[in-house]
Amino acid sequence: MTSANYFEQLYAEHDDPWQLAEREYERRKFDITLASLPKRRYARAFEPGCSIGVLTGMLARRCDALLASDPVGRPLEIARASIPDRNVTFRQGRVPQEWPTETFDLIVLSELLYYLSAADRVDVRASAVRSLAPDGHLVLVHWRRPFEVATCTGDEAHAEMRTGADLVRLVEHVEDDFRLEVLTHA
Ligand SMILES: C[S@@+](CC[C@H](N)C(=O)[O-])C[C@H]1O[C@@H](n2cnc3c(N)ncnc32)[C@H](O)[C@@H]1O
Repeated sequence: MTSANYFEQLYAEHDDPWQLAEREYERRKFDITLASLPKRRYARAFEPGCSIGVLTGMLARRCDALLASDPVGRPLEIARASIPDRNVTFRQGRVPQEWPTETFDLIVLSELLYYLSAADRVDVRASAVRSLAPDGHLVLVHWRRPFEVATCTGDEAHAEMRTGADLVRLVEHVEDDFRLEVLTHA
């Protein structure tokens, strides 16, 4: 697991450590993520690891209610300031330990799973399956290349999430740099 201190330190040094708001790569990936959502609208969505809320703001336009969380306070302050939308609730917390109790028809795990331990990824999968509505969509988007603090590759994390007959894949988009999948209950 990547330590909580690592992210606190990153955000102490930069407001937007991955340049989510600036890089064309991120903008295009977010556009593809939004275009891959099988439904035009979702009633209730959850986006853990929301950082400064760039994807959050885009998702908010497709959701009646969106819960976005991050364990670090600083990016949440930035996200709250830049997204005044009343349908978005920000909450400080980490997954899987602080996974919400509600049911969601959209759950988005974007650039998150490889920061978690193998055991936490198993728990995140179980929590996602438990809280996903019967016709809900679980979106996975991850960078495919290895990097220093990652506990696994994006491809490995996606393969773990597909393990088991309880989820089936609706969408797959693979590029050299990232993989995107949309899963639903079998
Ligand atoms: C690379 S950013 C991804 C931001 C956003 N999901 C996106 O795709 O643009 C990873 C974020 O995950 C957060 N994070 C790290 N460990 C986490 C955990 N256990 N639970 C929830 N978020 C976590 C970090 O604080 C950071 O803001």
